[in-house]
Amino acid sequence: MHRLLFALDPETAHERTLDLLALWSERGPLLEAPARCLRVEDPRLRVEAWGLSFPNPLGLAAGMDKDARALGAWWALGFGFAEVGTLTPRPQEGNPRPRLFRLLEDRALINRMGFNNRGAQAAAERLARFRERGLAFPVGVNLGKNRDTPLERAAEDYLEALRVLEPYGDYFVLNVSSPNTPGLRTLQEGPFLDELLARLRPATAKPLLLKVAPDLSPEALDQVVALSLKHRLQGLVAVNTTLSREGLRSPLAREAGGLSGRPLKGRALEVLRHLAQAPLTLVSVGGVEGPEDVWERLKAGARLVQVYTGFVYGGPLFPRRTLKGLLRLMEAEGVRALRELWA
Ligand SMILES: Cc1cc2nc3c(=O)[nH]c(=O)nc-3n(C[C@H](O)[C@H](O)[C@H](O)COP(=O)(O)O)c2cc1C
Repeated sequence: MHRLLFALDPETAHERTLDLLALWSERGPLLEAPARCLRVEDPRLRVEAWGLSFPNPLGLAAGMDKDARALGAWWALGFGFAEVGTLTPRPQEGNPRPRLFRLLEDRALINRMGFNNRGAQAAAERLARFRERGLAFPVGVNLGKNRDTPLERAAEDYLEALRVLEPYGDYFVLNVSSPNTPGLRTLQEGPFLDELLARLRPATAKPLLLKVAPDLSPEALDQVVALSLKHRLQGLVAVNTTLSREGLRSPLAREAGGLSGRPLKGRALEVLRHLAQAPLTLVSVGGVEGPEDVWERLKAGARLVQVYTGFVYGGPLFPRRTLKGLLRLMEAEGVRALRELWA
């Protein structure tokens, strides 16, 4: 089944899968019975962050389920949490297709989706319905600005999306690092970021995080950290996709957009290690392909770890396999529970 999907064009495969998972998500008993077999429920994997309890540290990264359509399925497949979005205040189509490419030789993807989404309001309604089911499954909400909103008014878009979604998310992420919305990454720069955070911080008492690009210099990362501390953000999500094309073999390497997957692994770890010196709670993402990567990120200072591309290549059993492997690695190193790492 998973192999068959690779015969389809990547975005069609993504849409068909999401349609199926969205249908599955709506079915109570048909979801809960397989979840009992698929989820690795083990108290050793539990993680606390920002006063929230995560059943395990492996989350679905933003962009897979932008519109919060399949939350039940992510839970049933074994994830410890999911981040929906990027959501913009108004619905938008995104860039023209094709805009998603598989770089098979590199175990990577390039995408220039451009925040295609059905808008904050529609997602709020779906999130409200998911909440009613009472599953112990934290959901993060990743926020962005509409493409046609000028940069000077970006804060208004983030504020509007946050206002609509605030009651339904467990934590919120300001996405200022997608390479596919012109100018967006400018918001990572000092004066813009200072103003954005000054306006957004008072709008929620819930955990507020910033998602950063892997292409920032150490100095720029330090500035992001300083402003995050100044405005009392709870943490950072590191990293988004990269504009770098270093070391790629695939003929599709020249496609425009953000690169994710295996080629991003080294840089994601480097950025994590740099950020780990600061008193912020870190979510590491980029190039995670299995238990060894998750374990390495946790030991390098991440509290939570997310995956997108590794899950596309790894298939539906990826969370289960990864969490079982993580437990084995913990046992081998005499770590009795993840919370020991932060004691
Ligand atoms: C097709 C695709 C769409 C994405 N869309 C978003 C998005 O809307 N918002 C966001 O913050 N990150 C988005 N991302 C980035 C991922 O969340 C993640 O940061 C990045 O892919 C690195 O992780 P990975 O190597 O596990 O894929 C997207 C990634 C892909 C491949």
